[in-house]
Amino acid sequence: MKNLGIIGLGNAGANHLKSQVDAGLVNVVAVSDSDSSLLQKVADEFCIERRYTDWHDLVADKEIDAIILATPPFMRREMFLAAAEAGKDILAEKPFGISLQEARDMADAAKRHGIRAMVNFGTRNLPTYKKLRELVQSGEYGTPRWIWFKYFLVVNPKIFNPPGWFWNKKNSGGHLGENAGHAFDLICELMGSVKNVTGITATLPLKHYAESLESGKPDIENLGVATLEHENGGVTVLANGSVPGGEWGMSFDIITDDCVISVKRDKFITIQRDGEEVLNYEAPFAWRPIPSGSLAFARFLNGQSEPDDSIASCEDGVRAMQIAEAAYQSASTRQTASLGNV
Ligand SMILES: NC(=O)c1ccc[n+]([C@@H]2O[C@H](COP(=O)([O-])OP(=O)(O)OC[C@H]3O[C@@H](n4cnc5c(N)ncnc54)[C@H](O)[C@@H]3O)[C@@H](O)[C@H]2O)c1
Repeated sequence: MKNLGIIGLGNAGANHLKSQVDAGLVNVVAVSDSDSSLLQKVADEFCIERRYTDWHDLVADKEIDAIILATPPFMRREMFLAAAEAGKDILAEKPFGISLQEARDMADAAKRHGIRAMVNFGTRNLPTYKKLRELVQSGEYGTPRWIWFKYFLVVNPKIFNPPGWFWNKKNSGGHLGENAGHAFDLICELMGSVKNVTGITATLPLKHYAESLESGKPDIENLGVATLEHENGGVTVLANGSVPGGEWGMSFDIITDDCVISVKRDKFITIQRDGEEVLNYEAPFAWRPIPSGSLAFARFLNGQSEPDDSIASCEDGVRAMQIAEAAYQSASTRQTASLGNV
């Protein structure tokens, strides 16, 4: 059985740890967090003996075959490069770094050191999106031509209070990479590669931010709109934002040359043809990307056969970051950005 280490035991990392311990597909032998009291608490809870406050010690641990990187985005590149150099296989939490250059550096390092790596994009292993891919790939409902996509996080201390790094562009890379990256990954799977991007960003100093931020105003956009022109002539319009209430999650319509396929809140799929509903599907659950992705990684490490699209590669991580970067470039120049030029 492969030996796994996890770096970062916050929201995502503790969830990875629990998922791996519960499933028992790999041995979790070591964990790391720079917050020593959190490290002791979480490691005690899951009876993990090897605990490192310095992540370099976990990377240097010769008994570890693979590492999950669940630290904030701005730390991704440094940790990934060190882990790849040490020959470890890697599950990198999304986003794949905080810039396109970082994503490319990590993809190059994975190739150079011959390691296996995966980026944990949320839709790859969830029942709704597995079903959606199946429906689209069957060809029975036509060819996707347009997508209208709404992806909102409901951010409010009573509902969901993201950590401080999330609200700072320098640390998270911006919400079009950090959050909409999940959506860009899925959209490219459904409609193929993107040629041009037109973006707009806006920041609204909503009152509830004051409770989680010293400045009371995020140093980042909380609305990003991107229009994607696909190589195949298709068009996607996406709005990604953080809002104080309303509908959580991904909801979108795919307009094909035959039908309209609608996905609501990561859970429900309906298909209409000529105004009649021809399919209605409800997934057993909506958004649980960490257990699903974590276990796909464990099976991948064990060489178990997985559908090709369940593992997002480093190149997929680069692709999502390239679209985000093109959207930011377009938003700042007020011109459409060509993917070839970012
Ligand atoms: N795939 C998904 O759907 C999903 C869901 C949630 C979070 N994430 C991603 O996971 C990453 C972490 O997010 P989070 O919400 O868990 O953040 P978090 O702030 O809750 O946790 C980050 C942890 O990293 C630790 N850390 C910071 N510096 C460190 C260092 N030098 N060495 C070791 N540990 C260090 C912190 O102490 C903290 O415990 C982000 O990139 C986020 O986007 C992905």
